[in-house]
Amino acid sequence: MHRIDGRTKTFGLIGNPVEHTLSPYIHNMLAKSMDINMVYTPFHVEHGRLNDAIKAIRGLGIKGFNITVPYKSDVMAYLDCIDDKAQIIGAVNTVHVINGQLIGYNTDADGLYISCKRKGMTFNNKTICILGAGGAAKAVAIMCAQHNVDKIIIVNRTVDKATNIKTKLDDLYTLETKAISYDKLNQIDHIDICFQTTPLGMYPKTDRTPIRDQDFFHKLEYAIDLIYNPSETRFLTMAKACGAISLNGLGMLYYQAVKAFEIWHNVKIPDHILEECLVNLNKMIYCK
Ligand code: ATR
Repeated sequence: MHRIDGRTKTFGLIGNPVEHTLSPYIHNMLAKSMDINMVYTPFHVEHGRLNDAIKAIRGLGIKGFNITVPYKSDVMAYLDCIDDKAQIIGAVNTVHVINGQLIGYNTDADGLYISCKRKGMTFNNKTICILGAGGAAKAVAIMCAQHNVDKIIIVNRTVDKATNIKTKLDDLYTLETKAISYDKLNQIDHIDICFQTTPLGMYPKTDRTPIRDQDFFHKLEYAIDLIYNPSETRFLTMAKACGAISLNGLGMLYYQAVKAFEIWHNVKIPDHILEECLVNLNKMIYCK
């Protein structure tokens, strides 16, 4: 980080809770590598105080901020303009303030896409399975549909929520979609890419997984878990044991931050800096 001085610009994250966020580490590291005089700090916003938080951001001339749980949808009501992708996903995780106008983006879907591409995945004509039907699942589904997959199967404990995402996809894109419960998994023959979007398996309850059936894991080419702590969830361990290529959620977290950074500072981060900072992030999280 630069020494804080009269020219330092402040960026930040609003959410509740924010105590365990890695975003300050990522943004301040990128700022140092790119020699940008800024500081990124978390802001814990109490329930019912989002309005005050946005007023403060406007009043203080803050140039950009991220939004995390539980405000990604609620924040949309306060923005002057929302980019198409964020509008479709129904969630904003990045706001850029230009001439007092608050412009909303969703960089989660892009972050996941970049992370998958770097793992060698392609999406064209693929069959996708998404476990879970919350906000993260919706961003994953839209990202896949926008990259020309053939088929998306959404599996959820509450089938109505999966059906809501299916309906949205059917309204906007031409592809085959299905919404099913976990007990219908045997209807699926082959899955190119399976995204695990539920919180099951996250530290400290690392023995949990939404699926334990070996038959299911044998159908997968790629298994992606949005969780990054632990680095290998039970879901990923089981998929790997059945021959799937696995990827955790750290890349998604990292590249959504990279995309936000590039929007705010109007820069393209060179590849060697991207790689170096990702190595540092990995070390910081997994080599304690
Ligand atoms: P996010 O916005 O991070 O995606 P969310 O909206 O709370 O979080 O969604 C969490 C998802 O994990 C939901 O699909 C939820 O299933 P339900 O819609 O049936 O609630 C799923 N999930 C959470 N706990 C689960 C459990 N024990 N078994 C199966 N699915 C679970």
